[in-house]
Formats: sequence, structure tokens, C-alpha cells
Amino acid sequence: MLPADDHALTGDESLVLPAFDAPPSDPMTLLVTWLRDAQGRVAEPRAATLATADAQGRPSSRVVKVKQVSPAGLVFTTRESSRKGRDLAVNPHAAITFHWRETVQQVNVTGQVVLLDDDASDALFESRGREARATAVVSVQGAVLEDEQALAARAEAALRRPHLIRPATWHGYCLVPERVEFWQGRASRLHRRLEYVCGEDGWISRRLQP
Ligand SMILES: Cc1cc2nc3c(=O)[nH]c(=O)nc-3n(C[C@H](O)[C@H](O)[C@H](O)COP(=O)(O)O)c2cc1C
Repeated sequence: MLPADDHALTGDESLVLPAFDAPPSDPMTLLVTWLRDAQGRVAEPRAATLATADAQGRPSSRVVKVKQVSPAGLVFTTRESSRKGRDLAVNPHAAITFHWRETVQQVNVTGQVVLLDDDASDALFESRGREARATAVVSVQGAVLEDEQALAARAEAALRRPHLIRPATWHGYCLVPERVEFWQGRASRLHRRLEYVCGEDGWISRRLQP
């Protein structure tokens, strides 16, 4: 058995984050600021846990790379054949969590996910490296793998094609935020929390107890 560990927060909590005392009006602008500040300090700051649920409300989660952040939401890409893709087709509610261990930060975003249009998905596909595009073309993400070597051979063959076209079931998805929470952990456990909720008149923010 793994022994209990009461020292889970091992990052550097000294980062000065003025938003907790003077919250900007828009949480997505603040998220862009936090992501910019995380670059160089945090390994893979755009890697985030995406939680979805199926039609019965049964949850599942996995890590995705958040490709774009704007006032419209958080964009990620995937195949609709994947479990997350199947969940989102029947239940658009989802949550994304960034965790940056190095700076003891966390950001939680919840909302509904919309499919991006073909032009936007094409642009996201083109922005991938060639190998990543080839894999996206040959792998029906989430389908049972019968033969790993055969899949690798198909990826090799795809790499030799002059043009790689986005599969019709590979899309950009956008999580449109309804609630955003910024969190900074402290060894004292007096963590700092700033919650934004989207109301009829726009975003309202408030501090929460740890
Ligand atoms: C750092 C990291 C980034 C990832 N980025 C993506 C991504 O952007 N899109 C994606 O479909 N899977 C991504 N994956 C793989 C997913 O975590 C997951 O294994 C896959 O999408 C299948 O998940 P599902 O069957 O629950 O839908 C990433 C994994 C890691 C560790």
C-alpha cells in the first residue's frame, strides 16, 4: 500500500498574483495572463484535464492540450469516435482543470462544449505537425486496436502522402465558460480562491474560502 502523504503541495507559492485582490472584469483575459506567466515556469501549462459525462451522467476524464484561449472559450481538438467525443455528442456539459504544480496554481472552467465549424477545424488540423496529422488520419481514436504494427504501417504510409486531409470526424471543440475559478495553494492550506460566474449582466466575481 502507498503510505499517506500529507506534503502534497511542493511547488513555489511565492508567485505574486494581484488578481485575488483586484479581480479583472473578464476571467478569460485573466486566464490568458496566467497562461502567459506560466510559460517558462511550468512544464506543459496547456495540458489540462477534461471531464465529460455520458447521457446517464457517468463521468470520465483525460488530459488534453488546450490549443486556444479567448473570451469565447477554451479550444481543444479530438475525434468524435473517442469516449469524450461520444460523451459530448449526447451531453455538452464539461469541465477543464489546469494544474500547475510548480507554482501551486489551479484553474477550473466549466460550461458547455460546442463543435467548431469546418474552417476552424481545418485550421487547427493544419497547425499540427506532419506526424501528428498522419496519426490523426489513420487512428480512429477509441476504437479497439487489433494490430499495432498495421496501424504504425498505415501512419508511415500516410506520412508519404503529399496532402493530409482532416478526417471528417476530427474536430475543434470549444468549451464556452459559465464558471471559472482561479486557485493558488499555500502550504498553510489558506489557499486563495477567486470564482467568476456568468450571469445575465456578464461576469460576477467573488472570493471563496479555501
Ligand atoms: C499532455 C497530453 C495531451 C493530450 N492532448 C490530447 C488532445 O489534445 N486531444 C486528444 O484527443 N487527446 C489528447 N491526449 C490523449 C488523451 O489524454 C486521451 O488518452 C485520449 O484523448 C482518449 O481519451 P478518451 O477515450 O477518454 O476520449 C493527451 C494526453 C496528454 C498526456
